[in-house]
Amino acid sequence: MKLVIAAATVGAVAAFAPSSMMGTKLSASATRAGGVKMNLEQYKAELAATAKKIASPGKGILAVDESTKTIGKRLASIGIDNSEEARQAYRGLLFTCPEIGNYISGAILYEETLFQNHADGTPFVDCLNKVGVIPGIKVDTGLVPLPGGHPVETWCSGLDGLVERAQKYYAQGARFAKWRAVLQITSDGAPSDLSIQENAWGLARYARAVQEAGLVPIVEPEILMDGDHNVATTAAVQEKVLAAVYKALSDNGVYLEGSLLKPSMTCPGADCEEPVSSEQIAKATVATLEKTVPPAVPGIMFLSGGMSEEEASINLNTMNSFARKGPWSLSFSYGRALQQSCLKAWQGKPENVGAAQAALIARARANSEANQGKYVAGSQPSADETLFVKGYKY
Ligand code: 13P
Repeated sequence: MKLVIAAATVGAVAAFAPSSMMGTKLSASATRAGGVKMNLEQYKAELAATAKKIASPGKGILAVDESTKTIGKRLASIGIDNSEEARQAYRGLLFTCPEIGNYISGAILYEETLFQNHADGTPFVDCLNKVGVIPGIKVDTGLVPLPGGHPVETWCSGLDGLVERAQKYYAQGARFAKWRAVLQITSDGAPSDLSIQENAWGLARYARAVQEAGLVPIVEPEILMDGDHNVATTAAVQEKVLAAVYKALSDNGVYLEGSLLKPSMTCPGADCEEPVSSEQIAKATVATLEKTVPPAVPGIMFLSGGMSEEEASINLNTMNSFARKGPWSLSFSYGRALQQSCLKAWQGKPENVGAAQAALIARARANSEANQGKYVAGSQPSADETLFVKGYKY
């Protein structure tokens, strides 16, 4: 009976189709207005394979896509000038770290790094592939104030020409992408519905655009830790945000099997005075995700968002220590919480490269174990400091 109705419906659609459309054959790879090629159908199997590989057991992402301005602040914290050579030396030590591929499946790069060589002349992309790490690329061009929104609110720029840029990044060896939208909770109305809709829509437009060029989109709706709200408030806001994001992804026909989510954990605000345990954060996070993230998504790779290195590992481990309904891999895509002790150990000195790489491996291994619910708190060295930065937007 269903088949008969479907056939009748197809006939009805054909009868009402404009004559110009009759007989038009949609090909898997279509050239659109402006000569832009769209290839989602052709890339689907590759997108799913890449996303699955990134989210494979015991693996997570090293986020090293700090903009030139942001990496400058990190380098300044160890007394180093923000020169191209310093950025190359630092990122070179990360990408040539022996054994890193045992714990890290992907590295998100800033555009400069994707096209940069190691000091020995090897392209960074080749260094990463050699150690089994898939290169990725940050494709958003930053946050800008949201007209009509709350004064703290932003939207994320970078959609113009994105398919063509993504094609260029794919040709250079990138296989996944990241776009970071930021929301903030305030006691006077943020996030507004406008900012939730705008940021969800931007994430979805981006995700579809990069999939057309063969890059797996990491969809990142970060909720900042700024504020004194409690976990329940974050959970309520995050549920609304993620529901809007997945509605927008569906509206844009994003291929979920070839995508990854990068959320913040469901944490209280940094100034919240109510005590909170790792169990509470882990339970609230998983409950929020189970209500909103489809099982077709292979992996949820958290950002660290200002948690200390050890906190980020413990919370991830706790989430992976109890039974849950959601089938996704719960893993990491940490920036600060993977790099802090490494950066401190390095101090910009060639003789410290070994110690810096050992520090990176310690945290990568801790998080790999946390992805499998096997991390023993304190079993790996860490920089015991909060990495929270107020208004960490730009
Ligand atoms: P943090 O882990 O330092 O929050 O950075 C992850 C990231 O990529 C933010 O966009």
